[in-house]
Amino acid sequence: MSSELTPPAPPRLLVRQTRWIAEGVVELRLVRRDGLPLPPWEPGAHVELTLPSGLRRSYSLCGDPTERAAWTVAVHLAPAGRGGSREIHTTALVGRELSVEGPVNRFPLLPAPGYLLLAGGIGVTPLLSMARALAAGALPWRLVLGARDRSRLAYAEELTALGGDRVRLVPEDEAGLPDLAAELAATPPGHAVYACGPAAMLDAVTELCRTAVPPRALHVERFGPSVEAEEDMERGRFEVVLRRSGLRLAVPADRSLLEVVRDRVPDVPYSCEEGYCGSCETSVLAGNPDHRDSVIGPQERATATTMMICVSRAASPVIELDL
Ligand code: FES
Repeated sequence: MSSELTPPAPPRLLVRQTRWIAEGVVELRLVRRDGLPLPPWEPGAHVELTLPSGLRRSYSLCGDPTERAAWTVAVHLAPAGRGGSREIHTTALVGRELSVEGPVNRFPLLPAPGYLLLAGGIGVTPLLSMARALAAGALPWRLVLGARDRSRLAYAEELTALGGDRVRLVPEDEAGLPDLAAELAATPPGHAVYACGPAAMLDAVTELCRTAVPPRALHVERFGPSVEAEEDMERGRFEVVLRRSGLRLAVPADRSLLEVVRDRVPDVPYSCEEGYCGSCETSVLAGNPDHRDSVIGPQERATATTMMICVSRAASPVIELDL
């Protein structure tokens, strides 16, 4: 296969171009400086960028997977965020190199007889590449994209060109919020549902799919903390035992497990710190995790043997990790 002949992705890629694609959304086009092709990727994949300040942020690849010359990500400005999007929006990045890790795909397009893609705001990015793949095939699909107003409907033209009347654009100031129940009711029961967007939207879709008869096959990707993760970090203190290092540490209510672990194991991997990228996934050897992330689905939590230590805590007085 040609991918076997492709050199591995270099740790740094050049920002060749930036483009304002919707209100508050800038697109970055990343290329190899030597012009060689980039590794292949599948719809739903994301990469992790290290910004000039050292902040690391994950973004879905939203370009055309068949285009090997460049990777494309789109970043929504979150003024109240933790600084990553603000840095991207306010720094002159064209001509600079950024460290890029990945791609990694935790949101793959799995086989199904048809698809309903539900996007809220910048959540359109992984679904755009899925729409491209589906438009090239013969299976039925529809996409619904909601945003506060028309100026914020990122990639609306591309989507309409891909899907025509399969694509429904819902500017909230004109049409209200997308009617998720109606969209699901209009979708054959066997079709897979893929959703990416704000936590409130994903919580609503999750509940609708869970209570549907029969339950819907739902796949979600969150780009912000879940409602649970936003809720209190005040379950009181607990202790963590790092089995490999033999350390026993107290985790106070106002610090995350990741923060406490990093004090003693500085190279522990992490990225989003909001429970949705999976970078900090750690094996649990004893104790009960209190899962608050978006990576491990509600149905998997009871049997999960790992946890995301950036947002999840312990539901037992002590938890032991494979660290
Ligand atoms: S750092 Fe992203 S899930 Fe924990």
